[in-house]
Amino acid sequence: MDRSSTLLFFLIIFILLLLHANANNISTDEAALLELKSHISNNIIATNWSASVPVCSWIGITCSSRHHRVTALNISSIQLYGTIPPHIGNFSFISSLDISNNTFHGDLPQELARLQRLKSINVTSNNFTGAITSFLSLLPNLRFVQLSSNQFSWKIPSSLSNLTKLQMLFLERNFLEGEIPREIGDLRYLTILDLQINQLSVSIPPSIFNITTMHVIALTENNLTGNLPITICDHLPDLKGIYLSKNSLDGFIPPNLEKCRKLQKLELGDNVLIGTLPRELDNLTALTYLYISDLHLEG
Ligand SMILES: *[C@@H]1O[C@H](CO)[C@@H](O)[C@H](O)[C@H]1NC(C)=O
Ligand SMILES: *[C@@H]1O[C@H](CO)[C@@H](O)[C@H](O)[C@H]1NC(C)=O
Ligand SMILES: *[C@@H]1O[C@H](CO)[C@@H](O)[C@H](O)[C@H]1NC(C)=O
Ligand SMILES: *[C@@H]1O[C@H](CO)[C@@H](O)[C@H](O)[C@H]1NC(C)=O
Ligand SMILES: *[C@@H]1O[C@H](CO)[C@@H](O)[C@H](O)[C@H]1NC(C)=O
Ligand SMILES: *[C@@H]1O[C@H](CO)[C@@H](O)[C@H](O)[C@H]1NC(C)=O
Ligand SMILES: *[C@@H]1O[C@H](CO)[C@@H](O)[C@H](O)[C@H]1NC(C)=O
Ligand SMILES: *[C@@H]1O[C@H](CO)[C@@H](O)[C@H](O)[C@H]1NC(C)=O
Ligand SMILES: *[C@@H]1O[C@H](CO)[C@@H](O)[C@H](O)[C@H]1NC(C)=O
Ligand SMILES: *[C@@H]1O[C@H](CO)[C@@H](O)[C@H](O)[C@H]1NC(C)=O
Ligand SMILES: *[C@@H]1O[C@H](CO)[C@@H](O)[C@H](O)[C@H]1NC(C)=O
Repeated sequence: MDRSSTLLFFLIIFILLLLHANANNISTDEAALLELKSHISNNIIATNWSASVPVCSWIGITCSSRHHRVTALNISSIQLYGTIPPHIGNFSFISSLDISNNTFHGDLPQELARLQRLKSINVTSNNFTGAITSFLSLLPNLRFVQLSSNQFSWKIPSSLSNLTKLQMLFLERNFLEGEIPREIGDLRYLTILDLQINQLSVSIPPSIFNITTMHVIALTENNLTGNLPITICDHLPDLKGIYLSKNSLDGFIPPNLEKCRKLQKLELGDNVLIGTLPRELDNLTALTYLYISDLHLEG
């Protein structure tokens, strides 16, 4: 190829790329929203999401001024009943999705994995079923994941450790079973891990006590067994709450808990822990709540 045909070649490639980028515009978002609308029964949405007004003024929609694309969908708490269609994967600019506190049911579609800009997802208090799907681990920008109070079942995928920016993980009040994956300990920025009221079993992986950013570890009402690590608080300088009651934990209460200097709430009741309450816990001056009833303690 001579110089001008090389130039022409690259010009054609460039134009093709532009056309491809243009194939995705606000009309794509609108089509996805109308598809979602057709999957839910609700008067507010039925009248407000009207094709005769611009998408960006529809209730629950936020658009970016720069790209003029949907960046947030918040349709929480408006009594929506329905399912989520695969078209939700077409919101290529969305960073926040809140469909919490409605009555959505069925599975979360795999197409969610296409939302590469997603930072926050809240589907809490719905009736979703199926597995906590590992497609979440394909969304590298997620910081906030709230899937609480649904009917999710099966195991917590170890691939969640892929979410290196994750700060809060709420999976409480579901039907999750099996082990808490040791890989959760790889999440270096996690501040809240809430797995309460599930059916998780086996021992707590010590790796989760190695996340130095952690503020809250909540694991009550599961079927967790085994001892608490004797070095439990060596790497938890900011821990404010640890909730472990209503499990089958055994062994002694580690005196090392005194190293969690900022601890305000400690729940250990309803387990099969033995021995005495360590004197060192007197050193926890921030402690305002201690639940230890039904322990097999002496002294
Ligand atoms: C979106 O792109 C399609 C082509 O894929 C085009 O027909 C349509 O006019 C565009 N819409 C807007 C609002 O730019
Ligand atoms: C849709 O809801 C928005 C936000 O509440 C409101 O500003 C707008 O007027 C509504 N549009 C229609 C057509 O109902
Ligand atoms: C969605 O809207 C509700 C109520 O308007 C609000 O409480 C909630 O914080 C919003 N969610 C997000 C992610 O902004
Ligand atoms: C959930 O939605 C209902 C209305 O459907 C509302 O009354 C309630 O306050 C909401 N709960 C939360 C936690 O936002
Ligand atoms: C949107 O998503 C659906 C289902 O995933 C797909 O069939 C469709 O072609 C996508 N694209 C547009 C522009 O609507
Ligand atoms: C997630 O949804 C629940 C229920 O609507 C709400 O209480 C909670 O504040 C939401 N979280 C965020 C960060 O908006
Ligand atoms: C949620 O789903 C279960 C069955 O899967 C059903 O029995 C229950 O009534 C549903 N709850 C609501 C609020 O729709
Ligand atoms: C982890 O994330 C990378 C990219 O962020 C992706 O290629 C890989 O498939 C993910 N692994 C799993 C198990 O999801
Ligand atoms: C926790 O961290 C310490 C020191 O950084 C390391 O020696 C230990 O192996 C880690 N434990 C786990 C279970 O990851
Ligand atoms: C909890 O675990 C114990 C021993 O591993 C088992 O015998 C028991 O059935 C489990 N209980 C529940 C509710 O899963
Ligand atoms: C912690 O408590 C122990 C036993 O009650 C006591 O001997 C020790 O001096 C205390 N340490 C600190 C740093 O207060």
